[in-house]
Amino acid sequence: MLQFNKFESGKVKAVKIGLLGFGTVGGGTLTVLQRNMEEISRRAGREIKVVAIAVNDLGKKRDIDTGGIELTDRMLDIVNNPDIQVIVELIGGGDDVFNAVMQSLEKGKHVVTANKALIASHGNAIFRKASEKGLMVGFESAVAGGIPIIKLIREGLSANQIEWFVGIINGTCNYILSQMADRQREFDDVLEEAQELGYAEADPSFDVGGVDAAHKLTILASIAFGVPLRFESVYIQGIEHIQKIDIEYADELGFRMKHLGISRRTGDGLELRVHPALIPKQNLIASVSGVMNAVLIQADAVGQSMFYGPGAGSEPTASAVVADLIDVVRAFTTDPQNRVPHLAFQADSLIDLPVLDIGLIETSYYLRMQAVNRPGVLAAISSIFGENEISIDSILQKGHGQPDELVTVILMTQNTREKNLMKAVEKVEALDSVEGKIVWIRVERLP
Ligand code: NDP
Ligand code: HSE
Repeated sequence: MLQFNKFESGKVKAVKIGLLGFGTVGGGTLTVLQRNMEEISRRAGREIKVVAIAVNDLGKKRDIDTGGIELTDRMLDIVNNPDIQVIVELIGGGDDVFNAVMQSLEKGKHVVTANKALIASHGNAIFRKASEKGLMVGFESAVAGGIPIIKLIREGLSANQIEWFVGIINGTCNYILSQMADRQREFDDVLEEAQELGYAEADPSFDVGGVDAAHKLTILASIAFGVPLRFESVYIQGIEHIQKIDIEYADELGFRMKHLGISRRTGDGLELRVHPALIPKQNLIASVSGVMNAVLIQADAVGQSMFYGPGAGSEPTASAVVADLIDVVRAFTTDPQNRVPHLAFQADSLIDLPVLDIGLIETSYYLRMQAVNRPGVLAAISSIFGENEISIDSILQKGHGQPDELVTVILMTQNTREKNLMKAVEKVEALDSVEGKIVWIRVERLP
């Protein structure tokens, strides 16, 4: 208490913060800062005070008390305010926001942001500018919401060579897939709810289309492997095409459907991919449900570890934003050369590893097709897989069907290169005895 009185009595000046954005995350950030002001000041060594907030619509009714704080719809007024020392960007997307962040750094202000699109697409330029100016850019909240995964990899695992990581890193997708599996709900209905709960991006196609997870994977891969941010190289597949029937069949076969971000260092290059996948139910990550996120990491010294927590939402994300703010305030007076590097590795030590083409990845597959119930059809399908060097793990016909009727066939493969699978799918689809397109989904057995 004595320590806190020190901040109140004004002996140590409060650090002045400008918030850009006051929506789900911005609102949570002010709430947490106000509610936990005393503890936060004791941790940071200074009081952290929001003095100005930029919003889009000044006329909007707000539930959070902003007494004593200047509200403006001109974010550059905050960026240009010489009294403000740290800019917290919680708007999202856009060139305007990139310009505001660069201008903030130019003006000598530290930056904290939750904007993964910004960091994944412009992080290389932002960190270069910040380093030139001796400033910090905190982006903990940009990946996996409230889980302090950036700090964990960047600092806690810094002794290790990371071999691979797999993450459930989009809360909205995980919420939708969990509700479809556990409550038999419809995709659109659950997406609407995720938007109401503040989990989804302003444009929810970024969530369900996999782009948001790709932004996060880009950031995680960079700090895990010491490579520059390479968003344009990520293979991206969303969950829009996932059907309830495949979630149900997967369940019968002992798997859960998840949307994953996967990165692995191989002899031929780096895997960078986000897509839906089936995971065996007994794997810990398969039980991560709802808006929760988890990142499973294989590293040479520590072995396998998994980090779990809320992946989206107002206060969980604010928890990470405020932690970054505290770090920035603590580091105000430290030598910029001796701070933790933004991307975990020293900027001149980043190595641009080649990214593996998706056709070269190796995994196993679940396939569902409609085939004619006739002797020899399954044998013909099996032989195409064999010709393409794919071993079949199991083949299952759903129901009995009358002769010459269409029946559903489910096929599980062993590990194979994706380009082999694609060739086999094309040939099987061309058989007269197979109707329509084959549904295929990757299966990640996770060692
Ligand atoms: P919201 O849509 O809830 O909030 C956006 C805020 O930005 C609003 O206050 C809006 O103003 C304001 N804004 C929009 N345009 C402007 C502008 N031109 N000038 C000033 N203010 C503007 O978004 P979120 O809080 O959900 O997300 C913010 C960021 O955090 C995004 O980058 C997102 O990806 C990231 N993020 C979000 C998480 C979540 O769970 N929601 C989790 C982790 C990261 P107004 O209030 O007037 O409309
Ligand atoms: N839309 C994002 C998600 C917010 O659902 O995961 C958290 O980054």
